[in-house]
Order: sequence, then structure tokens, then C-alpha cells
Amino acid sequence: MAGLIQHKKEAFWFYRFVSIWYDSFINPFFWDEAMREQALELAELNSGDLVTLDAGAGTGFTTTGIVAKIQPQKITMLDQSPHQLGFAKQKEVLNDVKKIEGDVEDLPFATDSFDRYISAGSIEYWPEPQRAICEAYRVTKPGVIALIISLLQRKNPLVRWLSDTWMLFPPEADYLRWYEAAGFTEIKTVYIQPSWYDNREGNEYAIAIAGVKPCAGESPLILPPKQEDKLQPMTIGRTLTFIYRFLVGSTAGAFFVPIAIIKVFQHNLKRLFA
Ligand SMILES: C[S@@+](CC[C@H](N)C(=O)[O-])C[C@H]1O[C@@H](n2cnc3c(N)ncnc32)[C@H](O)[C@@H]1O
Repeated sequence: MAGLIQHKKEAFWFYRFVSIWYDSFINPFFWDEAMREQALELAELNSGDLVTLDAGAGTGFTTTGIVAKIQPQKITMLDQSPHQLGFAKQKEVLNDVKKIEGDVEDLPFATDSFDRYISAGSIEYWPEPQRAICEAYRVTKPGVIALIISLLQRKNPLVRWLSDTWMLFPPEADYLRWYEAAGFTEIKTVYIQPSWYDNREGNEYAIAIAGVKPCAGESPLILPPKQEDKLQPMTIGRTLTFIYRFLVGSTAGAFFVPIAIIKVFQHNLKRLFA
């Protein structure tokens, strides 16, 4: 079953509010600069003129890491949330980066057009991850890398219940299966985590997965028509479902902020007395 915010309209409204605090609360606790640098290594950003797409780019935290390596004029940020992109537009370092509103499952770009595809922390909200990964395949040029960075399934039963209620926290095997089915080869992965996270007993926090598109054209995987659209008309049934998903899913997600604050506090206390 999909997480309650793993839907387009629900994710859109979730970010209508979360965008206000995103840079202050999300990045420092859950997706920091050290993690970003480690994950971006898999994308091999070894030349400043690589035409790069940042899909689900949000307020531009990952894009800021990309801009340190790639000329801003070569980078496109895409996100379905105008509110998230609105905050990106206020960042001087991203002034020359193109910013486009759009859906990762239906990218408004020609086949074989990018030298790199990067997406960080966005797959959790995609109703059809396989479809979006096939789109990543379609828009990249042959021989180049597509990188996705995202969370992993939790082991603790209570945390797993909360995380699965909120959104998509897939096991590593799902990422590998989606990449292979889309047609990517030379797949590489690396685990990443914030400094406060305890990954004992293989309870990994997040993964960066990169693959190479072996030949030109669309993904060999043919999928049925898209299931969801952000612009679907709201019937009474859909409105009630939306309200339920939005309220319960956001509440489940909200628990992760105090959990992280407590973990950071414990982590710093341990370091102080070590
Ligand atoms: C956790 S934020 C990650 C933002 C950014 N990549 C970063 O590193 O900080 C997830 C982003 O994915 C976007 N998103 C969710 N579903 C999407 C979709 N179907 N198409 C495009 N963007 C989407 C959200 O609007 C949000 O800005």
C-alpha cells in the first residue's frame, strides 16, 4: 500500500506548508551537506558543462551542491511545487539555473537530452516510482548516469509503521529492481546517513543509486497509462480521501522532527562525555 503522502495532490499540499520551514528544519537534520557530497560522487560530475536535470529539486539544496561542480546555465531544476521552487528562486547561487514546474513521471523534455539526471529525497512522494525511473532513463543520453538518492525501509516496527504511513521508504531490493527493469546497467549504490543516526544491525538510513543508460531511446519497459495526476478534478470521494491522507500522513511525518531532535541531542551528549 502507498504511503498517505505518496500521491501528487497530497505531496503538493504537504509542500505548500513544509516549504516554509524546509531549509531550516529538514536539511540540517535529515539531509546534510556531508551526505549530499558523498551521494553526488556517484554522479561523477567531472566536467562543468554537463547538461544536468535535478528532478524534484525543491528549494535547491541538492542543486546548490551541483552548482559547485556544474555551470548553473547547464542545470535545470524541476519540481511539481511552485512553493518549493519559489524559495529556490530567492537563492542568489541558483539565479542562472532554469526552474520548471513539472512532474517527474511525465518530464517535459526530449528523449536523450541530459548528460546527468539527479533526484534527491523526492521518490518518497512518487505514486509510481517505476514510471519516473523510466522517465529518468528516457531523458538521459546514452552512456550517462542517472542518480537517485532516497530513504530506506526502517527496521524498528513502530518507526516503520510511522514511516510507511507517511510515504515511501522502500527496501534496497526495490531500488535495484526498478533500475534494472528500466534498463539501467553498471548499477552502483552507496549508503548515506546523518552523523546522529545509529545504523547498527544494518539498519541503513538512505541510499544513493546510480546507473548508466546503455543505449539511446526510451526505456524498454512498457507501462500502462499513468495512474494519477495533480490536476485530477476533485469529486466528493476524492476530496474526502485527500483530507484523510493529508491529515493522517502529515501527522505521521511530523513525528520524525522531534524524533530527530532527540537523537541529535543524545548524539551530542554522548560526544560531550566520550
Ligand atoms: C524532500 S523534497 C527534496 C528537495 C530537494 N531535492 C533537496 O534535495 O532538498 C521533495 C521534493 O519532491 C517534490 N515532488 C514530489 N513529487 C513530485 C513529482 N511527482 N514531480 C515533481 N516533483 C515532485 C516535492 O514538491 C518536493 O519539493
